[in-house]
Amino acid sequence: MSLSQPGEFRSKVTATTLREKKERHERISSLTAYDYGTARLVDEGGIDLILVGDSLAQVVLGYENTLPVTMEEMLHHVRAVRRGVKRAFLVADMPYASYHVSTREALRNAARFVKEGGAEAVKIEGGENRVPLVHRMLDAEVPVMGHIGLTPQSVHRMGGYKVQGKTMGAIEQLMRDAVALDEAGVCCLVLEGIPREVAALITAEVATPTIGIGAGPECDGQVLVFHDLVGLTFQPAAKFVRRYADLGGVIGDAVRRFRDDVAAGGYPADQESYHLPKETQAALDTILERKRLMRSQK
Ligand code: KIV
Repeated sequence: MSLSQPGEFRSKVTATTLREKKERHERISSLTAYDYGTARLVDEGGIDLILVGDSLAQVVLGYENTLPVTMEEMLHHVRAVRRGVKRAFLVADMPYASYHVSTREALRNAARFVKEGGAEAVKIEGGENRVPLVHRMLDAEVPVMGHIGLTPQSVHRMGGYKVQGKTMGAIEQLMRDAVALDEAGVCCLVLEGIPREVAALITAEVATPTIGIGAGPECDGQVLVFHDLVGLTFQPAAKFVRRYADLGGVIGDAVRRFRDDVAAGGYPADQESYHLPKETQAALDTILERKRLMRSQK
């Protein structure tokens, strides 16, 4: 049996496992999931880290960016994913404004993901400026995943989704951010939308595992949005996306064939229909025959 067969026993992934993988130079695989079924498929496929990303705002809820998704919406999906995950390390993404207003609110929201959602860590976007919050969250026993580079919750400040870290000043700032978060004790660090050379420097510098998305192959792990991976999105894919399936095409085809079968009366067929037991059918036939006779005698 291949090592990646579904159902095969593998031990639970924890924050410690992720760090050990970095030390052993073993790559970490990560995908997003937003519902029970997908979470099961991803978990049984042997992925190490499952993120309930706020990207759900776009790929599941149809918003233009990640900003509108709420705590309640995120929690609803984290709970569903929790029910589908046995092995992977489960991280909940803190939505915009759930950790920006006050530390008290941020801690309460982070704790809800752990207590009510069953998450094993929360992810927050930002660098050095988040260090005091990371300390408070760790004090509250909530492991934290960092996220620097192209941080989608800063879309308006960045003036769009643009690759970050292209000037010396920006590289130095990214380095300071990564080192500060590492020293603060984040359990892993997403590097999004930065040149591979910069991601490689950061990965070599920090002890925490780096998980890249649009950050080149030198990161300790890679994450993709599930819908990008399987071709379930409606926009052209970003340069870093590799599509492993065209589920959009498969689903569209299934929907059209179903519509055509229904229109032609070809669905359901007799073998797709339930039948009465023989005795009930005989009794019904007798009643119907009697009614038919009575009508013909009127
Ligand atoms: O929201 C998300 O899906 C993310 C990852 C892709 C890193 O933040």
